[in-house]
Amino acid sequence: MGRRPFIAGNWKMHKGPAEADALARALKTALSDLTAVDVAVAPPFISIPAVAQRLQHTGIHVAAQNLHEELSGAFTGEVPGEMLRQAGCTYALCGHSERRHIFGESDERINRKVHAAFRSGLLPILCIGETLAQREAERVEDVLAQQLETGLAGLEADQVATTTLAYEPVWAIGTGRTASPQQAQDAHAFVRSWLNERFPAYVGKQVRIQYGGSVNPSNAAELLSQPDIDGALVGGAALKAESFVGIIQAASA
Ligand code: 13P
Repeated sequence: MGRRPFIAGNWKMHKGPAEADALARALKTALSDLTAVDVAVAPPFISIPAVAQRLQHTGIHVAAQNLHEELSGAFTGEVPGEMLRQAGCTYALCGHSERRHIFGESDERINRKVHAAFRSGLLPILCIGETLAQREAERVEDVLAQQLETGLAGLEADQVATTTLAYEPVWAIGTGRTASPQQAQDAHAFVRSWLNERFPAYVGKQVRIQYGGSVNPSNAAELLSQPDIDGALVGGAALKAESFVGIIQAASA
């Protein structure tokens, strides 16, 4: 059985509550007969309540861009998974490239966040991907294997099966330089073979692997037609309803 496409929009540090509500409202209207694709949007924390309220009963899910790995405590400025779930999130991004490279999150810390997501009733979207230097040094598979090995450590097979993986090559994020469909497919096929070597067959069959990095309505269809590309994690093109909806339409074609 085929995997249901999953398109998620990462709004990064854009759209305060009023603007976020306006975009959510536009998506609600444009996607009112959405059936064939799972869709989620990840607003900044401060805008989650407005977006969650606007998208109630629409089938469009809300994701957090990050979460703290502890359930509560003296962690000034942080937000735990349980509060994000209460605010209306279904998913949480873990280990986005910007968290890794700007905020120094290690694979070990990201693994704790993946576990915290499950403990809080959230489904993790674990982001992985190599830098340009790592690609040029032909280390893509080593890097992905390491990020998967540590990122998924200690999870039950059933938990891995419900985890979404997002392959986002760092050099393709926000650069307009998309991985070619073949480059992306090769990485995704590697990730699936890695899963197949370590978990029962149903896991690799079920796990959805999103591609992220300069996805737009013009390149989405070709990327999504690859056998191991099950969706997209969209940054810039998710900030306007028209372009985000265009990508969702490419996924449902
Ligand atoms: P862009 O689509 O802007 O390249 O961002 C990708 C991304 O980082 C999504 O999480």
